[in-house]
Amino acid sequence: MHDHAYRKKNYISLQDMRNFLWIGLVCFFLIACGSGNTDTPAAKSTSRKTAPKETKVNGEIVYKKHCMECHQENGEGVPNIYPTLQNAEWVGADKDHLIEIIINGMTKAIVVNGIAYEDEMPKADYLTNKEIAAVLTYIRTNFAKINDPISEVDVARTRIRLKSKK
Ligand code: HEC
Repeated sequence: MHDHAYRKKNYISLQDMRNFLWIGLVCFFLIACGSGNTDTPAAKSTSRKTAPKETKVNGEIVYKKHCMECHQENGEGVPNIYPTLQNAEWVGADKDHLIEIIINGMTKAIVVNGIAYEDEMPKADYLTNKEIAAVLTYIRTNFAKINDPISEVDVARTRIRLKSKK
């Protein structure tokens, strides 16, 4: 039956039909199994995408990116150049004033833990309220050991006050 003399181009032989059937069956199983396998993870990942986004800002990351170069990793600063953040006088005192230092920077001469400083601290008003709240809470908790977090609302309030002052 494989004699080429009997085969014409436009006809499908029995063997060809069997081959097609097999290929069709194999494809069917591949598709069926394949979709069966991807079904669950795909469904899971889409449900994960629709879950509410975690928008918490990490204060330590903000600190390392925007403050650490001057105030050093553990907030000890550099005597006479960059003041320490391990103090209650500036870091732990008035929240509003502390937030203002970040938003406006600082140029006046100050004394921290008995050491004088007069270098300029650049303003970081480009940070979001969330970032400022997170970084200040981070330095208060970790460097000044003050357990009194600063919230996004606190920062928003100071921004409004500073705007109306201008
Ligand atoms: C370019 C260096 C520099 C960077 C960056 C910097 N500071 Fe300062 N910071 C200073 C200097 C200098 C002073 C003292 C300013 C003065 O004498 O008027 C200061 C003062 C302060 C004070 C008040 C004094 C004290 O030691 O408690 C705080 C609080 C403070 N910085 C926090 C921060 C935080 C938080 C960041 C990051 C968002 C930051 N600083 C980024 C240099 C810097």
